[in-house]
Amino acid sequence: MKFLAKTAVFMAIAVVPTATLSVMASADAADTTISAAGDAVKGKRLFNRCKACHNLTATARPRIGPNLDSLFGRQAGSKDGFKYSKALQEAGFEWTEKNLDEWLAQPRTFLPGNKMAFAGLRKEQDRKDLMAYLREATVEAAE
Ligand code: HEC
Repeated sequence: MKFLAKTAVFMAIAVVPTATLSVMASADAADTTISAAGDAVKGKRLFNRCKACHNLTATARPRIGPNLDSLFGRQAGSKDGFKYSKALQEAGFEWTEKNLDEWLAQPRTFLPGNKMAFAGLRKEQDRKDLMAYLREATVEAAE
């Protein structure tokens, strides 16, 4: 009985991270399904809500939040020169459209403990539009 209980605990610990990893790995940073359904011109306007805290170029000084240049495919919480919350430093995933979409919908629910003071973009179409703009603007910034 004792042995079984220990095995069960071990399995629970071993299984959870593996399951999380496989979900993350399947969400490909090159997948443009969400941005493809968005309007970058509208997205640029929506970015006004982010501008106070985020720059899009690698060279600009970070504002309240980290610069978002070359965001897609980048490890979350990994931008040099910005002091992230512990939650984002330890997040252990890379930014794909799928998890960016969830982050932007409800940052606090998606990653509890993060320090981005933003309530979220509730409208799905707004997130698609913003995603289309970010795809353009962050690629330009990385060139
Ligand atoms: C009031 C300031 C503020 C606003 C507004 C804001 N953010 Fe943030 N954002 C932050 C901060 C601060 C962080 C770092 C959070 C942490 O360390 O937990 C962050 C982190 C992020 C990250 C993670 C970056 C990385 O390097 O991992 C993304 C992506 C992001 N924000 C996108 C956006 C977008 C898009 C908008 C607009 C819809 C937005 N943010 C609005 C302050 C803000």
